[in-house]
Amino acid sequence: MDRIRIRGGKPLSGNIPIGGAKNATLPLMAAGLLSDGPLTLENAPDLADIATMRALLVQHGMKVEHDKAQRRLVLSGAAENLEAPYDLVRKMRASVLVMGPLVARFGEARVSLPGGCAIGTRPVDLHIKGLEQMGAVFDLEGGYMHAKAPGGLRGATIIFPQVSVGATENLLMAATLAEGTTELVNAAREPEIGDLAMCLMRMGARIEGIGTDRLVVEGVKRLGAATHPIIPDRIEAGTYACAAAITGGTVLLEGARMVDLGAVVRTLRECGVDVAEETEGLRITRKNGLRGADVMTEPFPGFATDMQAQFMALMCVAEGASMITETIFENRFMHVPELTRMGARIKYHGQSAIVRGVPKLSGAPVMATDLRASVSLVLAGLAAQGETIVNRVYHLDRGYESLERKLSAVGAEIERV
Ligand code: UD1
Repeated sequence: MDRIRIRGGKPLSGNIPIGGAKNATLPLMAAGLLSDGPLTLENAPDLADIATMRALLVQHGMKVEHDKAQRRLVLSGAAENLEAPYDLVRKMRASVLVMGPLVARFGEARVSLPGGCAIGTRPVDLHIKGLEQMGAVFDLEGGYMHAKAPGGLRGATIIFPQVSVGATENLLMAATLAEGTTELVNAAREPEIGDLAMCLMRMGARIEGIGTDRLVVEGVKRLGAATHPIIPDRIEAGTYACAAAITGGTVLLEGARMVDLGAVVRTLRECGVDVAEETEGLRITRKNGLRGADVMTEPFPGFATDMQAQFMALMCVAEGASMITETIFENRFMHVPELTRMGARIKYHGQSAIVRGVPKLSGAPVMATDLRASVSLVLAGLAAQGETIVNRVYHLDRGYESLERKLSAVGAEIERV
C-alpha cells in the first residue's frame, strides 16, 4: 500500500495551482441526472471521489467522459437504472446526492443508506423529510431508501431545523423540476451551493436568493445542456495556506479566492500569517513566529469543519494555547492521538480541544481515518524534525490531486513510497 514519506523542516516557496472544488464537482455531477445534457464541467479535479461519482452515474446508465488533460467532465444521457448500490454509497456519502435528481426527473429512486462513517453518525433524515414534503413517499427496505413520486414532485416550503450542505443541494436540485415554487429556508450558504445554483440556472432552472439562506426555486418542465466552470477548491487552498504557514515560507495559491476563505484568512492573520490578494490568487507568507488562536467550526461563512484538522496541526507549533471547538460533526478529533505521537500537546473533551504549542514536532509513522485528518498529519510532518510516514494514502487521494507533486514543487521533501 502507498505511503507518503516526508522529511520536515523545509520552508515552502513558490506557486501552487488550486484545482476545481471536489465538494462542488460532486453535486454538479449529480445535477447531470436532471437533463439529457450534455452538461460540460470545466476545471474538473482528478480525484478518487470524482471517479466514484462517475462510476455511480455510469451504472445509472449515463455517459460520463472525463478528459483529464483538458480538466473537463462531459455528462450526457438519461438514467435507466434508478438504484444507487451499497458498494458505491458506502465508499462515498455524497452518493446520496443522486436521490433528489432521480426522484424529481424519473419519479423514483432506490438509494442505499450510507451507514456509519469515520467522523460521526451523519444521518440523512433532512434529505428524506424535505423530499417527503415535496410529495415523495419513502419505504425503507433492505438497507435502501426507496422513494416514489409517480406524479412528480411539487413545490413546498422547507424549513431546515439545522444547516445541511448535502440536504440543501439535494432539495435544490429536486426543486428545479418540481411543480410550482419551492422555498428552502435556513439553507446552507457554502460557496459550493452557489456554484451548483449557477450551473442549474445555466441549465434553465429558475432560482432566486443565491448566496443567501433562503433559496426560492420556480420549477420548470425540463432542463437542458450547459457548460459550467467549477469554482476553485477553498479547502485545498486553505490546506496549502496552512502548509506555507507551518513551514514559515511564502506561497502563491494560484486561483484561490478571498471570498471563499474569509474565516480561514481572518484566523491565519490572527496567528501572525500574512495573506494578500493578488491578481493570480492568494499569497501566504509567514516571517515571524506563529501565535495561537481559538476557532469554532460553523456553517459558512463561519470557519469550515473541513479546515479544523489542518488548523489544529498549525496550532501545535504556535506560541501559547489555542482552543478548537468542533460544532458540526461529533467524533472529528481522530487526528489528535496521531498528532500527540509527533510530540503535540493536545487535550480534548467532548467537542473542544486545547492545543498548547510546542517549539518542535518530531517525525513519526502515523495514519488517519479520514481525508482532512490525514492531510493534517502531512502538515505536521512538513514542520517536524526528522521523518514522518503517513499511512493510508487513499484518504488523501480522495480530495488532494497530486499532493506530493504540488508540495515538492515548492520545496517540500515529500514522496510517495
Ligand atoms: C458536506 C461536505 C463535507 C463537509 C460538510 C460540512 C460534501 C460532499 N461534503 O457534507 O466535506 O464537512 O458538508 O461543511 O460537500 N445532518 C443531519 N441530517 C441530515 C444531514 C445532515 O443531522 O439529513 C447533520 C450532520 O450529521 C452534520 C451536520 O448536519 O452534523 C452538517 O452536515 P452536512 O452539512 O449535511 O454535511 P454533508 O453535506 O454530509
